[in-house]
Amino acid sequence: MAAALTLYRSTIGKKAIMALSGIIWYGFVIVHMIGNFKIFEGAEAFNKYSHFLREVGYPAVPEGTILWVIRIVLLVSLVMHVLMAIQLTRLDVSGRPVAYKKKRTKQASFASMTLRYGGLAILFFVVYHLLHFTTGAAHPDFEYGNPYNNVVIGFTAQPLTAVFYIVAVAALGTHLYHGVWSALQTLGLNNRRSDKLFRGVALLSGVVLFLGFAMVPVSVLLGIVK
Ligand code: HEM
Repeated sequence: MAAALTLYRSTIGKKAIMALSGIIWYGFVIVHMIGNFKIFEGAEAFNKYSHFLREVGYPAVPEGTILWVIRIVLLVSLVMHVLMAIQLTRLDVSGRPVAYKKKRTKQASFASMTLRYGGLAILFFVVYHLLHFTTGAAHPDFEYGNPYNNVVIGFTAQPLTAVFYIVAVAALGTHLYHGVWSALQTLGLNNRRSDKLFRGVALLSGVVLFLGFAMVPVSVLLGIVK
């Protein structure tokens, strides 16, 4: 317990929590992106998948249990991720009584700036997204249990919303590029030789997630999914 607290209080401990909570969300977005592809198989397949998420584990556990476990893990991870980001930013600023004149390389400060502001934008998007497609509070014609219609109507009735989604997933792609890269550095996995490879992996994961997610609003806007 004491060791865990010491680790939590240290910069490296905070960075490790940041990386771990990020990896949990990273896993979720990959699964979510692949799940979204079901929309190209039609309404039945997409809605069935959504029902499956609610029923999974039943009758071993009551309906919705697994979904709620996932939701709680995601929420805790999100809170920890944001909290650690705030604390690390503070440490960064307060760790040095007199600021460096020329603190870091341009590249590093650009990456951390985009991580912070991009992260904030993604947080805003997730809250809106839940009100849009999960509770329906921000949807013009929400139908419970019919996510296919909710997506198609949501994007066709309000095309600007689709554009907003595309911009948001571009921010997510950028965040993941920088995030995966920085996580690999935190875990100390990089060295001169693996440097190029990891940068490539980070870039690829950002691009794949952007394209994979953007495909849905773009296809609805183009009338491919209707
Ligand atoms: C174009 C991109 C996206 C589309 C079309 C989309 C679509 C959806 C839909 C239809 C639902 C409701 C599913 C259901 O009720 O069964 C949902 C839920 C959700 N999405 Fe997305 N999503 C997108 C991107 C994202 C991104 C980028 C994130 C995270 C960064 C995200 C996080 C979530 C979360 C947390 C839920 C709630 C799951 C739950 O608790 O029920 N989504 N999404």
